[in-house]
Amino acid sequence: MPSFADPARRQFVAWFFLACWIMPLSFHERDVFGAESFPETVLPFVKTYCVECHNSKTTEGQLDLTKYTTAEAVAADYRKWEHVVTFVTKEEMPPPDAKQPTQAERAEVLGVLGKLMLQEARKTAGDPGGVLPRRLSNAEYNNAIRDLTGVDIRPADSFPIDPASGEGFSNTGEALVMSPNLF
Ligand code: HEC
Repeated sequence: MPSFADPARRQFVAWFFLACWIMPLSFHERDVFGAESFPETVLPFVKTYCVECHNSKTTEGQLDLTKYTTAEAVAADYRKWEHVVTFVTKEEMPPPDAKQPTQAERAEVLGVLGKLMLQEARKTAGDPGGVLPRRLSNAEYNNAIRDLTGVDIRPADSFPIDPASGEGFSNTGEALVMSPNLF
């Protein structure tokens, strides 16, 4: 039976727990994908080919690209960077009369940015947004009265017709507002 009195074993156990504790921390730091490669790829690219026109003084297209010094900053503003990706992909930026990156440089930067964007998009995917409080729809109100009283008197049939929302559902929170007629 191995004993915990064995110093080597004790040391191993100590290191093991330390590793368990540190590992999630270091994964967390790399939360934003491409965070490590960002300073070596995207930053120099932007510096060389973009900031001449997109800096805090010359903000062509209202875009100051010197603000984004980390992958996290890009991730936080990824809607704007979707434009950057589009313009660089379509080779509209840098403009034709400016210094042009090579195809390899373009591809490398688009690779890093693409992964970063995909990850940000996934974070919000499947999020339906907040659920608004709403009143019952007329049909739900009828059913509730029937279930509570056992009598199908359909009181809501005399209510104003439920507005249909743009999606075609009659039970969305945005559409089911209270109007004075319903009091
Ligand atoms: C020589 C100057 C110049 C350089 C260099 C340049 N741009 Fe631009 N950029 C412009 C101008 C001018 C506009 C505004 C064009 C317009 O509104 O029609 C613009 C607009 C844009 C826009 C659109 C802004 C928006 O959100 O609608 C993006 C994105 C952009 N540039 C990205 C870049 C990137 C990325 C680089 C570097 C790879 C770059 N630009 C390099 C001059 C430049």
